[in-house]
Amino acid sequence: MLMQRGLPLPAPERPAGVTLRPQEPADAEALGALYWDSYPKGAAAVDLEDAVEEMEGVFAGEYGAPIDEASLVVEDADGTLIGCIQTVTSPPWEGIPAVPFVIELFVHPDHRRRRLGTLLLLSAAQACFDKGWESLALNVQEETAGEAVYLYGHLGFNEITPVGAAEG
Ligand SMILES: CC(C)(COP(=O)(O)OP(=O)(O)OC[C@H]1O[C@@H](n2cnc3c(N)ncnc32)[C@H](O)[C@@H]1OP(=O)(O)O)[C@@H](O)C(=O)NCCC(=O)NCCS
Repeated sequence: MLMQRGLPLPAPERPAGVTLRPQEPADAEALGALYWDSYPKGAAAVDLEDAVEEMEGVFAGEYGAPIDEASLVVEDADGTLIGCIQTVTSPPWEGIPAVPFVIELFVHPDHRRRRLGTLLLLSAAQACFDKGWESLALNVQEETAGEAVYLYGHLGFNEITPVGAAEG
């Protein structure tokens, strides 16, 4: 389900004990492990190696041009990565509106319901607004990402028709 929301969104509130920073290419291995741990096995990657390659592909621009300020990681107090959002322009799929597009949002299962997903999404939205963008879009698989559907709905994202799709 393709979703979009006008900007700005509310300012993020940071939970205590976590740090937010832009992701860096040197994070690819740790991000791959987090990505692998965050989805049901087989849903997003075939194995850990595949998950790391996916993350390397994000940095290489295979899924669009990353917006650095809106591609963020959350670290806990000891520097372990526990959440990530990745936002791009010009993703390589049809039907996507010409606005910043969230290609990934994931939080480690041990750290869910701490508002970290909300922190990541609101922080990315704020960065996009600060860069002059007026809306943010994303795609969510309703069957496999029920929690995300709640989160996006809660933050006012609405389903949209893919750009160029025939009406009716
Ligand atoms: C989606 C995801 C990133 C949410 O991360 P999170 O840090 O747990 O989210 P938050 O704590 O910010 O939750 C925000 C709100 O979303 C809703 N929500 C989140 N998880 C929920 C659940 N399991 N059941 C019901 N509502 C849920 C709630 O309204 C929640 O607010 P509340 O805790 O005050 O009730 C996380 O579940 C995840 O990584 N899932 C696997 C990867 C994935 O599917 N990513 C989405 C790709 S489109």
